[in-house]
Amino acid sequence: MLDFNVNEPIVLAITGASGTQYGLSLLEFLLEANHRVDLIFSKNALLVAKLELDIDWTKLNAQELKFALVEYIFVTNRNEKRSSITEEQLASIKNSLNIWQEENIAASVASGSYRVSGMIVSPCSMGTLAHIAMGTSHNLISRAADVMLKERKKLILVVRETPFSTIHLRNMLSLSEAGVIILPAIPAFYYRPHSLQDQIDFITGKTLDSFGIDSALFKRWNT
Ligand SMILES: Cc1cc2nc3c(=O)[nH]c(=O)nc-3n(C[C@H](O)[C@H](O)[C@H](O)COP(=O)(O)O)c2cc1C
Repeated sequence: MLDFNVNEPIVLAITGASGTQYGLSLLEFLLEANHRVDLIFSKNALLVAKLELDIDWTKLNAQELKFALVEYIFVTNRNEKRSSITEEQLASIKNSLNIWQEENIAASVASGSYRVSGMIVSPCSMGTLAHIAMGTSHNLISRAADVMLKERKKLILVVRETPFSTIHLRNMLSLSEAGVIILPAIPAFYYRPHSLQDQIDFITGKTLDSFGIDSALFKRWNT
């Protein structure tokens, strides 16, 4: 199976599929658990975030986006199921986060010589899925994913679309054959979710499970 070392930074890409909150929830968990994260937010994902969450990050540079994201996730919109965090923790969280723009093809994550534990794309649009499946490396997200494949590193795509076309399914199959984990953002009901946050936590927890990180974000089936 693909190589994995959880002590190295994790590449997280958020693309323009519906469900910005899946990406933000992963970012929240990873940073709070002291993981270093290299984040790439696609331009289209910033637009979807504006439409879904009423927050306009479309005109920010990478540094401004980093501060806005940390403020939004850990202060303004802090998940009510989590406890509040201190100024000291906030400072350390900011230090653990690198943000790259999708056109910055010279970013460290574009090279196989930069050591990372793997990459998660959440949510993953069908457009980005197709670029990764075809190996186009058309922006930093598909290039970083291409690097994961060539370096035999863990790559998880939290795809979201419904219904899937035959082309989507073919792209998923060819990536699955290349060792990629295709993890559709499909909620379950057996654990009796009460809120949207429960559903988001389920997908986030399943994604972390697949990456090899314990989270306790959802109740496991245990009869
Ligand atoms: C509100 C909104 C919701 C969207 N939802 C999805 C979706 O769930 N899945 C998908 O594949 N594309 C979706 N799209 C279309 C993608 O944003 C579009 O294909 C875009 O080119 C993806 O670019 P990216 O992969 O570079 O982020 C949505 C677009 C908008 C505006």
